[in-house]
Amino acid sequence: MPIDNLVLLMLALGCGLCLTARADASDALRDLAARHHLLIGPAVGKHLWTTDPVYAAVLAREFNILTAENDMKWAAIHPERDRFNWNASDPYVAFAEAHGMRVRGHTLCWHAPFNPAWLEESGFARDALIGVLSNHIATVVGRYRGRVAMWDVVNEAVADEAPHGLRPTIWSRTIGPEYLDLAFRAAHAADPGATLVYNDYGGEAEGGKADAIHALVAGMLERGVPVHAVGFQMHILDIDAESLARNLARFAQLGVAIHITELDVRLPLPADAAALARQADVYRKVLNVCLREPACRVVQTWGFTDAYSWIPKFFPGHGAALPFDAEYQPKPAWAAMLEALATAEVVPRGGVHD
Ligand code: G3I
Repeated sequence: MPIDNLVLLMLALGCGLCLTARADASDALRDLAARHHLLIGPAVGKHLWTTDPVYAAVLAREFNILTAENDMKWAAIHPERDRFNWNASDPYVAFAEAHGMRVRGHTLCWHAPFNPAWLEESGFARDALIGVLSNHIATVVGRYRGRVAMWDVVNEAVADEAPHGLRPTIWSRTIGPEYLDLAFRAAHAADPGATLVYNDYGGEAEGGKADAIHALVAGMLERGVPVHAVGFQMHILDIDAESLARNLARFAQLGVAIHITELDVRLPLPADAAALARQADVYRKVLNVCLREPACRVVQTWGFTDAYSWIPKFFPGHGAALPFDAEYQPKPAWAAMLEALATAEVVPRGGVHD
């Protein structure tokens, strides 16, 4: 092992032993991710950094990309047909620019029950709905042209159930399957420099949904649709690393970048030391698969502290899913991520966009 990796390994192991002393160490995740030209960061809420200085400090210290967990979704940013609410979204871009971070915009096209009533209960005819979607994307992406590096253009369009066709949504029902092409083309017209992402869950390892997402993206690329990356949400209990690696490699062969977009590893509560160690192994597996895949450019978690996570509300009896505990202390999962970043061979990162 080259000496610099040995030093980094000792650093990673050392900080694994000094999990409590994180005041101003320079071994933050973002510092080691930079070696790999990798973006690493969480989904966040501005209401948290404006009320909790430790939240803001850890966010700025550890990460080089952030996503608005909810404030760039339609209900927050476009609450009425003729009104956009930039107070919801602007602070994320401002925080990121103040701390040398990128922004992932999330998300330009999703489904009920996460859309505002004025949209879902609209009864819009096809042409009117095309106009509403096109206007939303042009307005939102246009506002942040050159300032939001990447957009989850369409989120979760593929059905969970076999044969994994298009999920029945206001978009697929009213516009038809071409709504995806329309959304990506509108986003590209609004910001040609932005990385445009198809984002979904359940297609991380090999399987029927992964096959369907692969076919969907391949079809868009064949039609010349500007899809630059595929987002794998990675809300998991565990993962088959070899299957994940094979699956990501075949997406990379399409010429798209790979983004891990919403990683969390939920545990039954209370989580004991053995469970936290197993969780760390899962984080380590995901990081190592990404680091070995040249097309993998982004690793994001869905939150970063157990103090604020969607898991307990949506999976009662589960939690402790993130790399920092509720007191902002790094967990074994954080040390595992740091060790992976410190020890993995640096491979040239391809990919069309950051
Ligand atoms: O802000 C309102 C509050 O004013 C109101 O009193 C309260 C009543 O329940 O609702 C609050 O809004 C909630 C919002 O989170 C902010 O907390 C919504 O009801 C709730 O549905 C929303 O849940 C979010 C969910 O997406 C749906 O948008 C979760 O926080 C968020 O973690 C989750 O994230 C999704 C990704 O966007 C896509 N991938 C899956 C991931 C997990 O479901």
